[in-house]
Amino acid sequence: MANAAASVSVGSSGMTRREFLYYIWGASIALLTAQSAGLLVWFLIPRFREGEFGGKFVVSVDNVPAVNSEPINVPDGRFWLVNLDTDQPNALMEKVSDEGPIKGVAAIYKVCTHLGCIYSWTPTNNRFECPCHGSKYRLDGRRIEDPAPRTLDRFEIEALDADKNPITNNGISPAIEVNGTDFYAPLELPEGTAYLSVNTGARKVGPKQELLPNVPK
Ligand code: FES
Repeated sequence: MANAAASVSVGSSGMTRREFLYYIWGASIALLTAQSAGLLVWFLIPRFREGEFGGKFVVSVDNVPAVNSEPINVPDGRFWLVNLDTDQPNALMEKVSDEGPIKGVAAIYKVCTHLGCIYSWTPTNNRFECPCHGSKYRLDGRRIEDPAPRTLDRFEIEALDADKNPITNNGISPAIEVNGTDFYAPLELPEGTAYLSVNTGARKVGPKQELLPNVPK
C-alpha cells in the first residue's frame, strides 16, 4: 500500500512523490551549504581595509624612529611608534632594576588607560602625559603616575620584506617566534625588514605593573 503511494506521479511530469521529495531534500542541503560557505567567506574577509583604524597599517622602516629617540605619531592608526634598546645610552627613559632588557619596536595605543583621553608626548619632560587627570607614562608606555591603572596598550607588529611579504623563519614570524601568542614585547626587527605591519585590530592590554620609582622628570 505504502509503495503504491510512493510511486504515485506528481502532476503531469511523471515524477514520483519519492523522487520529488528527494529533489526537495537535495535542494535544501545545497541551499544550506551555500549559506554556510557564504558565512565563512564573510567571516574571512577583513572587516577593515589597510590604512583604516581597526585594520593594518604598513609603515616603512624609514618612518620608524631611531633607537631611543622620541616617538613618532601615526595619527590615523592612533598609535605611537617607539624604538627601544635599554642596552644603549638612553636619555629619554630609565630602566629600573627589576626589568630585563627592553629592545625593539612597539606600537603604543594613543588612548590613556585611565578614562580614555588622548595623551601626547611631552618633550620637555621626556614622557607621555595625559591632559585629563595627569597620568604619566615612560617612553615604552609603562606608567609613571596615577591615576592610570596600568601600562599603555600596544598593537601587534609584523616585519615585512621589500615586497611587503611577512619575514618568516621556517614559516614562523619573528614576532611569534619571540613572543608566542603574547605580542606585547617589542619586536626586534629581523634582517631584511623594509616595512612594518601594525595591526590595529589586535590590541594587547598593558600589564598592571608597579608605578616606576625614581624616573626622570
Ligand atoms: S583619562 Fe588620562 S588620566 Fe584620566
